[in-house]
Amino acid sequence: MCRQTVKRHLWQDITLFDGLKTHAEKMAVLVEGAKIQQICPMSQLPADLRDTAEKTCQGGVMTPGLIDCHTHLVFAGSRANEFEQRLEGLSYAEIARRGGGILSTVSATRAASEQALFEAALPRIQALIADGVTTVEIKSGYGLNLVDELKMLRVARRLGHQLSIHVVTTLLAAHALPPEYQQDADAYIDLICDEIIPKAAAEKLADAVDVFCEGIGFSPAQCERVFQAAQAHKLPVKAHAEQLSNLGAAALSARYQGLSADHIEHLDEAGVAAMAKSGTVATLLPGAFYTLRDTQVPPIDLLRQYRVPMAVATDGNPGSSPIFQLSLMLNMACTLFRLTPTEALQGVTHHAALALGLSQTAGLLSPGRTADFCVWDVNSPAELAYAIQPGRLKQRVFNGEVTA
Ligand code: NIG
Ligand code: FE
Repeated sequence: MCRQTVKRHLWQDITLFDGLKTHAEKMAVLVEGAKIQQICPMSQLPADLRDTAEKTCQGGVMTPGLIDCHTHLVFAGSRANEFEQRLEGLSYAEIARRGGGILSTVSATRAASEQALFEAALPRIQALIADGVTTVEIKSGYGLNLVDELKMLRVARRLGHQLSIHVVTTLLAAHALPPEYQQDADAYIDLICDEIIPKAAAEKLADAVDVFCEGIGFSPAQCERVFQAAQAHKLPVKAHAEQLSNLGAAALSARYQGLSADHIEHLDEAGVAAMAKSGTVATLLPGAFYTLRDTQVPPIDLLRQYRVPMAVATDGNPGSSPIFQLSLMLNMACTLFRLTPTEALQGVTHHAALALGLSQTAGLLSPGRTADFCVWDVNSPAELAYAIQPGRLKQRVFNGEVTA
């Protein structure tokens, strides 16, 4: 029998942010194969370990591989024209009411082949990979019928199979009302509940189900029907909640043990309390807040007070957040929402993993876990949030392999 030796790599003199906190001492991290074998202070590193490890690397700040827990990065077309319309004074909601917005991306996405969609998504996901992201969530929501929603989810799965990144997929059929159902939203909800969710579940194409609960999206009653269908198929739920108004979507999502409520600029204290009770993560999307020139800041102090974990994501999409750089969100979360750099870093690591139901496998660095991490050429973790400066990623390690 032939036994292959598993490679052992040792990182030394590391400043370690483990997903929750920064260790005071310089640390050593030993990786064997795809797993973290040991983490200890340099002062306790056994001399024989130093000698037996095949490859050693020195210095820098180590963080878990970053997790972008909210994106819409599979889509066709561009909405640069709407960017210009907004500069001329039209609002995001007004553009949507005139048939632009999400529906314009729906036309382009329906018309695109699976291969064309895959190729369009590649540079966006590659930008995230180059920025240190090792886990990304990708939503559907620009198909709005059975065939095209499943097409989007298949593209997302394929990105995960072909690239060095974990992909989590979310079915967002309840994103906007498709043109063929303009007069009958409830009939579209029937289609989602009776056909799209069952088929996506049967083909294992969706890891969760999301809704857009809003005046220009779906009502709480309609979203609740989607949640019931999701739960019947054992899929966890989440919501685009209280982005433009407060409809109680975060509390609704909490009633269904939602993984996260996202945006939440208009969230009130009752919603925060409900989220705290159900362990629903607050996903902050400063890129959409910035792009739409929003002024209503999410209730950060209340979220702190009720100890609701806060995640931070790009919301990368063609309309409200054409941004595919998670490290920039660290800065924006601090500057626009007044998060501390530590909170922002927790938001793209441990708390982002919680928002995806992956807290056992991603977002934290400890022995026994998969070796997905980044080493940055900075002096302290806070510098990652402080400066907007690409090019500081020294190493990206995915499943124990150095990939950048
Ligand atoms: O998260 N709020 C709804 N959905 C997306 C925007 C999608 C789009 O404009 O294409 C969001 O902001
Ligand atoms: Fe979104």
